[in-house]
Amino acid sequence: MTILNSNKRIIVTGGNGRFAQVLKKENKKFDILFPSKKIFNILNINSMKKYIKKNKPKYIIHCAGLSRPMNIHNNDINQSIDKNIVGTANVTKICSELHIKLIYISTCYVYPGLSGNYSENSSVKPINNYAWSKLGGECSVILYKNSLILRTSVTEKPFIHKKAFIDFKTNFIFHEDLVLKIIKLINQKGIINIGGKSQSVYNFVKKYNPKIKKQSAKKMLGKKTLMNVSMNINKFKKLIK
Ligand SMILES: NC(=O)c1ccc[n+]([C@@H]2O[C@H](COP(=O)([O-])OP(=O)(O)OC[C@H]3O[C@@H](n4cnc5c(N)ncnc54)[C@H](OP(=O)(O)O)[C@@H]3O)[C@@H](O)[C@H]2O)c1
Repeated sequence: MTILNSNKRIIVTGGNGRFAQVLKKENKKFDILFPSKKIFNILNINSMKKYIKKNKPKYIIHCAGLSRPMNIHNNDINQSIDKNIVGTANVTKICSELHIKLIYISTCYVYPGLSGNYSENSSVKPINNYAWSKLGGECSVILYKNSLILRTSVTEKPFIHKKAFIDFKTNFIFHEDLVLKIIKLINQKGIINIGGKSQSVYNFVKKYNPKIKKQSAKKMLGKKTLMNVSMNINKFKKLIK
């Protein structure tokens, strides 16, 4: 695998977001810029071009967008469409025009959530509006061949809730354990599932916080809740060895 040359500049969109801030803290080696929305607005082509032309990046890691609260993607679809679909399409068009490698952070929720163990070639069927908006973003990124889509399942350290689902399976990993691994993948193309071991949220959290309480996603969110968005991460494991 080609490893990133430390003098190749990277721009991370959504510089004040959770992912970007952890990467900023963990990075000691690479030339990475973290512009805020004010100076790099993904809904303002001119602001992006101005910043890119001044800073001449080789890569853009695209994290800007709208994720939480999840119900905002039902209650305010304009924001969801603008930030996750239109914004991502704007970033893709600029990367294509200026020949910049694009890395897009997507989500495991694009998979159907039924049987789990989804590989990069599995069919997608987003489990909620948030996931549809992220898949909408993917649709533009995939058209640009100098790109990489990372479907992930990350969470904050420490885990923010007092209870964790015993019956919802995913590939949670803490931001701190993931951000530098993404830099290792930066020269890859296509789609890669990234995250930790497939397990219930409760089992993941219990290792770090033995006092975490159990909760049933089915009881809390209803019988129709899709319970298994776990991904097959073999490709990722092989690449970061
Ligand atoms: N956290 C997760 O569990 C998770 C899991 C899988 C994938 N992802 C994806 O990973 C990416 C990063 O997640 P995160 O947790 O770091 O998200 P986050 O904390 O919500 O950060 C997103 C950032 O984007 C900024 N932003 C919003 N509109 C913008 C615009 N028009 N132009 C430029 N910046 C804008 C936000 O700024 P303001 O706050 O000022 O609006 C915020 O700083 C997201 O695309 C998310 O969908 C997250």
